[in-house]
Amino acid sequence: MSDREDISIQKTAKEFINRLSVLIRTAHIHNANNVAVTSSIGRLESLIIELIDSENSITLELRGEYFYFNDIRVPYSVDNLLNYDFLAREFRKLELGSINIQNKTGTEEIRAFVQAFISSSFSESPFEALQEKTSVIPGLGLERLKKITDNQTTDIKKTVRSTYYNAVSTTEGVMNKIRSGEQVSLKRAKRVVATMVNTVLDQENILLGMTAIKDYDEYTYYHSVNVSILAVALGHRLGLNKKSLIEVGMGGFFHDIGKTAVPNEILNKPSSLTTDEWKIMMRHPPCGARSLMKIRSLDELTIKAAIVAFEHHRNYDLSGYPEVRKPVSLDLFSRIVTIVDQYDAITSARVYSRVSIPPDKTLSIMMERAGSQLDPLIFKFFTNMVGIYPIGTLVLLNTKELGLVSENNKLILSRPRVFVIADANGNRADSHVVDLAEKNGNNGYKRSIVKSMNPKEYNINLAEFLL
Ligand SMILES: [Fe+2]
Ligand SMILES: [Fe+2]
Repeated sequence: MSDREDISIQKTAKEFINRLSVLIRTAHIHNANNVAVTSSIGRLESLIIELIDSENSITLELRGEYFYFNDIRVPYSVDNLLNYDFLAREFRKLELGSINIQNKTGTEEIRAFVQAFISSSFSESPFEALQEKTSVIPGLGLERLKKITDNQTTDIKKTVRSTYYNAVSTTEGVMNKIRSGEQVSLKRAKRVVATMVNTVLDQENILLGMTAIKDYDEYTYYHSVNVSILAVALGHRLGLNKKSLIEVGMGGFFHDIGKTAVPNEILNKPSSLTTDEWKIMMRHPPCGARSLMKIRSLDELTIKAAIVAFEHHRNYDLSGYPEVRKPVSLDLFSRIVTIVDQYDAITSARVYSRVSIPPDKTLSIMMERAGSQLDPLIFKFFTNMVGIYPIGTLVLLNTKELGLVSENNKLILSRPRVFVIADANGNRADSHVVDLAEKNGNNGYKRSIVKSMNPKEYNINLAEFLL
């Protein structure tokens, strides 16, 4: 399937979710024969007719966190998250995994379906109730929600992990070749970036979790991969299509390629750099752009990456380096990469900054740069993506438990899901995930974050938990 077809089906799928979600929500409030319900039915009906004509049949399936429409994952974005989350919750409540529609359904059939949908959620075995009540509707098939087993999760994690490490070794390979003046081909790098784009689209949380592990000696290689992943995830939030995601991912992957021209003594110097050393360090953007432009099979993708390499330390307000004679506003991909580059650099324990800064503190440092160094609008999307407490942040809860943020809550940023690693007495907990959005009996929350902590101070090895 071509990219364009992919995008148009995703759009229709989003619309399908919106209309179904609105209908169910309306029917929750009003009687099934109410005008608002009838008009919502009409809007869904016309879309179904259109879809049966073009696609023959419709399958909407909930797999883990995401909906798949005729096997294509429906993107989750700012404009549809309320409907998306609502429908996913309703599916889970009913233990419903998928709806398959083979025929053009009429108004009364849809009305019967919605009535069954709502009344079944109060039943003891909701899925069986729904199945029974809708069995008279022709061409409608329902399947029970499949539980993702621990084994499957382990397999997914393994695949994501190997994608990540494969990317790291690719960076290392390319950088070594450039350093020794050999001819390089970007074929493998392109493949790696394309795989990362697919992984971000499918398993964003696990891959973002990988970028939170900052404990390594070879900072530059991991940093390039992290920046690439974060740039793709941010680009996805901004609504970029797949082709652009690969481009911004390549930009992130190669943004620091010019560091191959900086001697290791400077790159890994444990104390602060002298003025002369800084001058050498500041050469890496133009050097990087030059190495990329020298690549034999120069194509559009590589040229775009070269622009990012050149611009990633130039600022939104046109300050920064390298200085240029006629400053022009920065390329969109450069503005994306600059933000995620700073974020990864500040949160990483670099050789010369000794302590890394926790993700939430990093965000507040960067907040002050929004509008001057950083594009404020893209930064807003970035904070929305990583949340107030990004994945991997070590947090202290009001229950005195310690945990690692494992997944963001897109609606209430301050209430992520947390992987509890130590109980109130400081003993190692039997790893379990708690949802901070969970309420207690008195309409308050069961658990809340008191503050974030520095994993280094607690000798906590993030890798051990996140992998
Ligand atoms: Fe850089
Ligand atoms: Fe960088």
